[in-house]
Amino acid sequence: MLSPDDSFLRARRRRVAAALRPVLGEASLLVHAGTAVPLPENTDQTYPFLSHTEYVYLAGTEGERGIVTFDPRLADDEAWEVFVPVPSEGERIWEGRTQAPGTPLPRLASWFSAREGRPFVHLGSRPVEQPVDATTLAAREHLSHARRPKDAGELRLLRAAAACTAAGYARLPSLLQAGATERSIQIELEAEFQRAGATGTGYGTIVGAGSNAAILHVSPSSRALRPGDFVLVDAGARVGRYVCDVTRTYVVGGRPDPFQRDLHALVTTVLTNAVGRCRPGREWKDIHLRAAEDICAGLVTMGVMRGQPAELVERDAHTLFFPHGLGHLVGLGVRDASGTLPGRAANPRPALRTLRCDLPLADGYVITVEPGIYFIRALLEDPTRRERYADCVHWDRVPPLLDLGGVRLEENVLVTPGEPEVLTAAIPLG
Ligand code: GLY
Repeated sequence: MLSPDDSFLRARRRRVAAALRPVLGEASLLVHAGTAVPLPENTDQTYPFLSHTEYVYLAGTEGERGIVTFDPRLADDEAWEVFVPVPSEGERIWEGRTQAPGTPLPRLASWFSAREGRPFVHLGSRPVEQPVDATTLAAREHLSHARRPKDAGELRLLRAAAACTAAGYARLPSLLQAGATERSIQIELEAEFQRAGATGTGYGTIVGAGSNAAILHVSPSSRALRPGDFVLVDAGARVGRYVCDVTRTYVVGGRPDPFQRDLHALVTTVLTNAVGRCRPGREWKDIHLRAAEDICAGLVTMGVMRGQPAELVERDAHTLFFPHGLGHLVGLGVRDASGTLPGRAANPRPALRTLRCDLPLADGYVITVEPGIYFIRALLEDPTRRERYADCVHWDRVPPLLDLGGVRLEENVLVTPGEPEVLTAAIPLG
């Protein structure tokens, strides 16, 4: 049973129960935290472990090997149980583990026998031998959907993560000096997040200088910054399991050339327009396509693309310069409960198939808005694309841009019934 102060958890489980009862029918649910994976060298070390977010959401804590169960035949207060492992002597001695609150895991056997002959659905870090059937897929869709609106407890952690992220970014102007390396910036930024109270980072920090700014998930390297380089920084602090995901792009030395200035201004405009469109009921893919149109309009004005912006987007020509989606849900994990609305099939259109979200926004959702414009050789030197989009780009303007990198700007936006709230607004856009 939950104690009365677990009011957020209680409301969360009530919402999930209402969403899952029609899907599960007679089946009981097990949501697995997962197990740390030992390093292959057969040492006593493991890869860093984080419990599956579905477990964290329903258990309210981390908990390696923990399992949350739900029996839809029981009333809400009785239906949920959290099984937790009993630490071994070795774990007590070497890791200082203690018994977590919950039902000891050995009692799961009697939970199963009480339900003999009935079906089970496994979510979270599912055992590999369990089949993925239609009920499992539907249960995951509906659990994700129930997780999407953030409650006040989650928003408190997200705001804390945003404050730690802002503290890290506030250090950047003094770090972005010619000669500093991508890696040295990563180290200082992450240290500052943690000095400000972060538990860690939300995902692998991205720092890309010069042409590396056009590698979407570049790992920071020993590459040194040169005056006039773009430097793209995509990093976020984590507090508990709640993360921010922020991107800013700077110019080393702070004096952009006219093209860099126009490019940054264009991405800023696209960002601002897209944030303003984050309203309840708006389809995310429409906001994405409007951003794509804004990007094409700006690149036409800058003399890089040519044609009517709406037609360019209709032909997916924007993907030459903006090859990713406009954003994803963020919060409990960097992608939180992104995905599609329950029952919605993947969009067959090539430019939309890879969007991380295909759903209407709703009050309480937190979503990244992250337009970017890049000059990526793999796209712009591809003969098939050059032929298909021969009339969409001033191709003679492209070669000098191939080492420029790119610009991405990213905010985390809380959808409300009124104006969208930018949780990361304290971080200057550059
Ligand atoms: N910002 C990193 C990611 O969304 O993957």
